[in-house]
Amino acid sequence: MAIKQHWYENAVFYEVSVRSFYDSNGDGIGDLKGLIEKLDYFTQLGVDCLWLLPIYASPLKDDGYDISDFCQIHSDLGSLQDFDELVSSAHQRGLRIIMDLVMNHTSADHTWFKTGRVDKRSPYHDYYVWSVDPKKYADARIIFIDTETSNWTWNETTKEYYWHRFYSSQPDLNYENPSVIEEMKRVIHFWLQKGIDGFRVDAVPYLVEQEGTNCENLPKTHAILQEIRRYVDEISQDKLLLCEANQWPNDVVEYFGDGKEFQMAFNFPIMPRMFMALKKANAAPIRWALEQLPQIPGGCQWGTFLRNHDELTLEMVSPEERTFMWENYSPDSRYRLNLGIRRRLSPLLENDRRKLELMTALLFSLPGSPFIYYGDEIGMGDNVELFDRNGLRTPMQWQSGPNAGFTNAEKAFIPLIADPLYKPESINVAAQINAPDSLWQFYHHLIKIFKENSQKVSQTFKWIETDHAEIAAFSRGDLPGQILVVANLSDKTLEFSTPSPGSKFTSAIDLLTGKTFQIHSSTLSLPLPAYSCFWLSLY
Ligand code: GLC
Ligand code: CA
Repeated sequence: MAIKQHWYENAVFYEVSVRSFYDSNGDGIGDLKGLIEKLDYFTQLGVDCLWLLPIYASPLKDDGYDISDFCQIHSDLGSLQDFDELVSSAHQRGLRIIMDLVMNHTSADHTWFKTGRVDKRSPYHDYYVWSVDPKKYADARIIFIDTETSNWTWNETTKEYYWHRFYSSQPDLNYENPSVIEEMKRVIHFWLQKGIDGFRVDAVPYLVEQEGTNCENLPKTHAILQEIRRYVDEISQDKLLLCEANQWPNDVVEYFGDGKEFQMAFNFPIMPRMFMALKKANAAPIRWALEQLPQIPGGCQWGTFLRNHDELTLEMVSPEERTFMWENYSPDSRYRLNLGIRRRLSPLLENDRRKLELMTALLFSLPGSPFIYYGDEIGMGDNVELFDRNGLRTPMQWQSGPNAGFTNAEKAFIPLIADPLYKPESINVAAQINAPDSLWQFYHHLIKIFKENSQKVSQTFKWIETDHAEIAAFSRGDLPGQILVVANLSDKTLEFSTPSPGSKFTSAIDLLTGKTFQIHSSTLSLPLPAYSCFWLSLY
């Protein structure tokens, strides 16, 4: 069995919004210097790599995913010098940093677009996708369906439409134009020279358009991404390219490109199915999602996650499944956004500690490297009143004091959570670090156990058959050091029983709680409490 060799193959990632993390200069906005001040927090928690949400110059029409200058830091967040300091301070602590690379589009405020949209003869005009006919590429779906009515927007000066898969303030770049690829390589070069460890590449399925297709996952898009990978490898080996492709299982795996494209891809197909499995008290949706995904090339890995900065996406589920998810996880329709649910993990799971621990332990047990969304390690809440997805991007709650210790300013740039269950007095880092039985301590312990066993958990995965549809049971790794993961998705205590995988074992210990169980007559039997997950090590 191949040993995992690359740092990202069993790393714990932490997704962070710099703007919402910690304000160092009292202007109410989190910044790079603030993040530097908090670096010890990450090492204390035990994570390996930070993924920074976009920190580039931007008019913030899409929280920074609308970039007006790829090689500048947003002035709210600091300077390029601060960034250099961040990278070196993180590396000194053994922490890695990846950042978003938004290839698909720019902001309408980018000079390329500002120049190109007023002058058809400018070389920048051809950096974007234009048409006089708004019926072109009619088979491409609209992604932000709550806001946009078309993927085309009229440009009066040149009397034609420009193409955009997201907000109309985010024109798509034209990847038929080789200069665009060259520009993107310059951007990649710029940041890799600064020492970052890789990129989370945003919205990759949409790079190229082709009439008669849905304009997603096209061969030419894959060819461009492979060219980008070759370029990155030329600069430096072992830099990570992580793919954001919210697609069906068959299409997601294509982004590994037989080892020539991305080293990592988010496992989008399994995410909503974990929530379905929990609500249905049935492991089948998880099993289905795993069975759809073939083996991935050596040196590649999945990125697994429960939540991120976007709505919990329900694009890649059947209409019935989507209705099921909406009815069960978002009965209040205000939480629905586009084809998803804009809620954080803890509110989705009713702030139920058992469910939070179960789902997080499952996340860390599945094939892949787990991603934690900032604040979920303390069970932060959300605010449905805020615009778009801002309600899940509120300031990190450090303490119970004013503004949760996020800023010294009178007001944070976005309101803190006020809901009594989730407000800073109820939920904050300081209190949870000091309480031995807090959710934060659970994450801390889980990360530690994950890392101690990471070679095992990243290897062989085999389902264990049980009499209970409510139980997800599988083995990770090979004998003798194998771990059996057993999770009870139901609200009842169930008896789990399986033949002992080896005759010499007499006991099992749950690595997460330290509980031990005896093995009698070559059978491991144990009561599995409602919503519990055990990582059993046999001895
Ligand atoms: C990705 C990001 C999302 C953004 C979109 C457009 O899906 O995760 O936040 O709005 O791309 O850039
Ligand atoms: Ca600030």
